Amino acid sequence: MEYTWNTIERHIAACANCPLSGTRQQPVMGRGSREADIMFIAEAPGGEEDRQGIPFVGRSGEILDRLLRDSGLTREEIYITNILKCHPPGNRDPKEEEKAACFPYLKYETFLLKPKIIVCLGRVAAQRIIAPDFKITRQHGTWTCRKDCALTATYHPSAVLRDPSKYETVKKDFCEIVKKREEYA
Ligand code: URA
Repeated sequence: MEYTWNTIERHIAACANCPLSGTRQQPVMGRGSREADIMFIAEAPGGEEDRQGIPFVGRSGEILDRLLRDSGLTREEIYITNILKCHPPGNRDPKEEEKAACFPYLKYETFLLKPKIIVCLGRVAAQRIIAPDFKITRQHGTWTCRKDCALTATYHPSAVLRDPSKYETVKKDFCEIVKKREEYA
């Protein structure tokens, strides 16, 4: 596959590499600045994302927007994507074979973007990207470095929806991301 944003977009739009292509309304490609220093990676599109074809436009997206605003970031200056590009029915956890089938798209997105910072939102992304035994409760807000890229994870915005007392914790993690970007600038 040729490495351009257009080709990835076309491949994702036509993808039938796993059974989710039979249940999705539409695939959800990453969005935001293709020059961003910061790449957010979450789990999989929810129901509203499936309808609109845009990541984080549902209730989790409202929390994400608040977190971005409160830490001084905007959607326009970040890139946000998911491990899976298609909605798993009932918002169930992605299956291993779905993650494996979709992973090349995330690799191409990362290759093209060349982010300085990768932020995993939630356990599923952190365990796929940072370490298979990553414990979000104990390890959120910690940093590792890989090939000139700083990686971290925090709770998924849906965890804040379920437990609003987590908001301040996640906001603190987001503020650290902004500080890290300043270090790298
Ligand atoms: N949850 C996710 O993990 N990704 C989205 O795009 C929306 C909700």
